[in-house]
Amino acid sequence: MFVWRPEMIRFMRDASEYTDYHAQLASQISAYLPENAQLCDAGCGLGYLSLALCRMARSVTAVDVSAEAIAVLQTNIQRDGIRNIQAVPADMHTYLPEAPFNAMVFSFFGDTAEALSIAKRCCDGVVILIKRNYHHHRYSVGNYLLERFSFAQSCDELTSAGIPFQTAEFALENGQPFHSLQDAVTFFRIYSRDAEPEEITASWVRGKLQDDPSGEFAYYLPSVKQIGLIALHTQDIPTTLLQSISHSL
Ligand SMILES: C[S@@+](CC[C@H](N)C(=O)[O-])C[C@H]1O[C@@H](n2cnc3c(N)ncnc32)[C@H](O)[C@@H]1O
Repeated sequence: MFVWRPEMIRFMRDASEYTDYHAQLASQISAYLPENAQLCDAGCGLGYLSLALCRMARSVTAVDVSAEAIAVLQTNIQRDGIRNIQAVPADMHTYLPEAPFNAMVFSFFGDTAEALSIAKRCCDGVVILIKRNYHHHRYSVGNYLLERFSFAQSCDELTSAGIPFQTAEFALENGQPFHSLQDAVTFFRIYSRDAEPEEITASWVRGKLQDDPSGEFAYYLPSVKQIGLIALHTQDIPTTLLQSISHSL
């Protein structure tokens, strides 16, 4: 299970406030949103995508099972005086809105079956899946193939289930700033899939970094993230599929 450790929150906050990744991602998503979207950001994490999407929607309900993650979003909502985001600490597998949303976003949340099952219960409208469109782990010394949760896998699953969908593929700058080389080493050791991450050296990490061009941080890890977007409609999710999904979950 995904757990937001304090250093992970700090790294994600720094990255989210440094690049325009979430603004760009929200802009891609907005092309698929209905007018006056009453949107749910399922598994919103720290909520930076919700903060960008609330400018393009009537309301955003940002849900995450992590109370720590939701607390970061609450702080930012208050800081920015935002009135149309509701931050909800809840488990999406049991969460039930008072009225169905007309749009839901699942950004790097779960697999296709989970998203479809949750969307069918909570939404009467558009479902947008944001998926990884690359196959090698970005923060490991070794070459680790990522097999699950990919854009290609979701497209294959939807095609074989006979569910119509639209796609978009794009790349966004999603780099990571660091206050020190030691911070960067800590980052790689947390996120690496290597068997012995504590053996990742400062000199190997330094080779991946640039001096921070903004001057705000010491270093910057440039990274372009390849993303696949999938848009479908809840009315096209067959109930029979959900019965088979509920057995496999
Ligand atoms: C990989 S992160 C993605 C966060 C964010 N959507 C993004 O794109 O950066 C997955 C998020 O899903 C949350 N999560 C995992 N299982 C969940 C569940 N059953 N209900 C709600 N949130 C969940 C985790 O706490 C985490 O914040």
